[in-house]
Amino acid sequence: MRVTVIGTGYVGTVTGACLAYLGHRVTCVDTDRTKIEKLRMGEMPIYEPGLKELIEVARERGGIDFETDVRPAVAQSDVIFIAVGTPPLPSGESNLAYLEAAARSIGGAMDGSKFRVVVNKSTVPVGCGNLVETLVREGVLESRPAIAQDVHFGVASNPEFLREGSAIHDSLYPDRIVVGAEDSRTTNMMRELYEPLIEQTFVDPSFAPRPRDMDKVAMVMTTLTSAEMIKYSANAFLALKIGFSNEIANICERVGAEVTEVMTGIGLDSRIGTAFLHAGLGWGGSCFGKDVSSLLHTASEYGVNARILEASLAVNRMQRNVVIQKLQEKLYILKGRTIALLGLAFKPNTDDLRDAPSLQIAEKLLQMGARLRAYDPIAMDACREQHPNLRICYCNDALSAAEHADALVLVTEWPEFADLNLANLASRMNNAVLIDGRNLFSPEKARAAGFEYAGVGRANHRSNGHAHAAAQDAKSTVV
Ligand SMILES: NC(=O)c1ccc[n+]([C@@H]2O[C@H](COP(=O)([O-])OP(=O)(O)OC[C@H]3O[C@@H](n4cnc5c(N)ncnc54)[C@H](O)[C@@H]3O)[C@@H](O)[C@H]2O)c1
Repeated sequence: MRVTVIGTGYVGTVTGACLAYLGHRVTCVDTDRTKIEKLRMGEMPIYEPGLKELIEVARERGGIDFETDVRPAVAQSDVIFIAVGTPPLPSGESNLAYLEAAARSIGGAMDGSKFRVVVNKSTVPVGCGNLVETLVREGVLESRPAIAQDVHFGVASNPEFLREGSAIHDSLYPDRIVVGAEDSRTTNMMRELYEPLIEQTFVDPSFAPRPRDMDKVAMVMTTLTSAEMIKYSANAFLALKIGFSNEIANICERVGAEVTEVMTGIGLDSRIGTAFLHAGLGWGGSCFGKDVSSLLHTASEYGVNARILEASLAVNRMQRNVVIQKLQEKLYILKGRTIALLGLAFKPNTDDLRDAPSLQIAEKLLQMGARLRAYDPIAMDACREQHPNLRICYCNDALSAAEHADALVLVTEWPEFADLNLANLASRMNNAVLIDGRNLFSPEKARAAGFEYAGVGRANHRSNGHAHAAAQDAKSTVV
């Protein structure tokens, strides 16, 4: 099929590349010229493992190109995806300006030559399927009023569940595909588009091998509104699971329990599940905060008092301060102290800093008079560029970040940090204090290396050695 994807961010570029890999002919469009120029030259505007390789193969399979003008692409396409940003407004409401501009531009490019499907892949509040239909229709009327009645299209909501850092894997081997639509023509076209994914008939790329137990993918067909609610509910629930673990961690710390063991113990209950139960210094990223706030806003528009969602946001805000409290407990005075941050990205394997806990922690520490050093394997350039006012001394590696520091804070659990030589790190510091914001290290090993160690929700006295393994792999601790 001919496909246009509007927006070449984390979602649009990956979606376009995967669809082209599956054999569709794809054009990705963005208003940002710099991004398009980079993509044309084979450079990635974002860091996402495997994306560059996937685009290279996709060029030879279905074919993929990158444009700034939406019109020729839309005119030729059967399916047009909207994957533009929907960032939060100060009120918590989603900013729909990009979505509206994209929908109008699609209308302006349509003619009566074929039936097309306009797909909302951006995360949008309930009712946006209807809004997109109206805006596309208005776009048609503004540009070609004479043929407006001959232009036929359907609207689908196809929320995206990919995780940055494993986006290619998540897109090629999804747990499910959700499609909301109101007519069978639209539904059938979406089924045809995703056929190779549903049936898993494509040859898997070497850099993203098919999981051994991968079977057919379930396609969940719903109404437009249900599909929109599915996306928000999924993110709200995931945020809640992490928030719950954090709240339990704070209690564990007081009563002398080990949260990694507690979460293993509850996660193995099949009704609960082990994923997203890792306690730490709070979630971040472009989606959870924005989506929970947007759902809260929708709830309030309909007079629903969504207390769990409110609490979920509040608990997460508080959790980021836990690092500051732990630093104060260990160092008493933070003014003039040098704090080294390991990791800036909101999670490993991405350069995304949107709503990253590192930023809130860095701002607070600077406000309190601390000096900051930091190392992140990928996100330092993005941080320099996007947050020029953060007075951080960026370092080439973890060892130089630790040099003469009074405390080290593990903010992002990049895999390479797990292999650090802790004794070497500790020996370079003024005060060998380690605040492990992601429970990445074994407390015993950190202490043996000379660190004064504090994790999140970890008892000070421990030692059966199972806790760390429990955090890494729940099953490994079950004997
Ligand atoms: N990032 C994620 O992990 C993720 C996961 C699931 C869903 N989502 C949702 O997907 C949507 C996109 O997220 P993202 O992270 O890819 O955003 P992004 O900010 O990385 O990319 C959005 C892109 O859209 C472009 N754009 C804006 N208006 C445009 C227009 N009128 N025409 C053409 N291009 C336009 C921007 O220039 C930008 O490159 C959001 O609604 C988000 O909530 C994101």
